[in-house]
Amino acid sequence: MPTLSATDVLTQLNWRYATKRFDATRTIPAEQWAALEQALVLAPSSFGLQPWKFLVVTTPALRQQLRAQSWGQTQVTEASHYLVLTGLRTTTADDVDRYLQRQSEVQGVPIEKLSGYRKVVVDFVQKGWAAGDLAGWNARQVYIALGQFMTAAAMLGIDTCPMEGIDKDAYDRTLGLDGSRYATLCACAAGFRAAEDKHATAPKVRFPLDQVIERR
Ligand SMILES: Cc1cc2nc3c(=O)[nH]c(=O)nc-3n(C[C@H](O)[C@H](O)[C@H](O)COP(=O)(O)O)c2cc1C
Repeated sequence: MPTLSATDVLTQLNWRYATKRFDATRTIPAEQWAALEQALVLAPSSFGLQPWKFLVVTTPALRQQLRAQSWGQTQVTEASHYLVLTGLRTTTADDVDRYLQRQSEVQGVPIEKLSGYRKVVVDFVQKGWAAGDLAGWNARQVYIALGQFMTAAAMLGIDTCPMEGIDKDAYDRTLGLDGSRYATLCACAAGFRAAEDKHATAPKVRFPLDQVIERR
């Protein structure tokens, strides 16, 4: 199995930055965008429940509207692609069953054989440490998908800007999520940096490794 070298990985992670200005004339090639969508599909989640929906917003008028609901940030309309990441507002036994049904299909396991596992997961969701804040638990899974999306993009030489500077309630209204099971959590613009974006060359502001990583 070929792997990227440590140098290649670090080069791309250093190359990545939260892009402020995108080149509006450049579009991510279809094959690369398809890989980024797969990076979302392949993201890991607790128990594998995948408590998310990712909205790829292509309609220009919608993107204009969302920009106004994002502190006017230009990334929303200038980037090649704009992704809104949403998470389940809660998790129910039906959500667990939907996942187990899929596992049964994909892995060819009779659903009855999964009943013991079902009890573990449903008990966790209903009575475990996350039960008091399932929306928060789900949101953390969605942010893992965001990280995977951005890292995959960096490996492909595609720029991103993760965005929490957005009015999530307004997004919900604009995207028709009000009253649905999913709520907006964050967004991510993806495309190619504009030549004039001076943030691209600013040194990264990070605490030294020995302050961030402790060894026991
Ligand atoms: C969850 C999240 C939300 C963010 N929201 C915004 C945003 O709305 N607008 C923006 O320009 N940058 C946003 N950023 C980018 C951060 O400011 C940036 O990642 C951080 O300053 C480190 O810089 P770097 O990513 O360029 O290395 C966000 C980052 C994360 C992880």
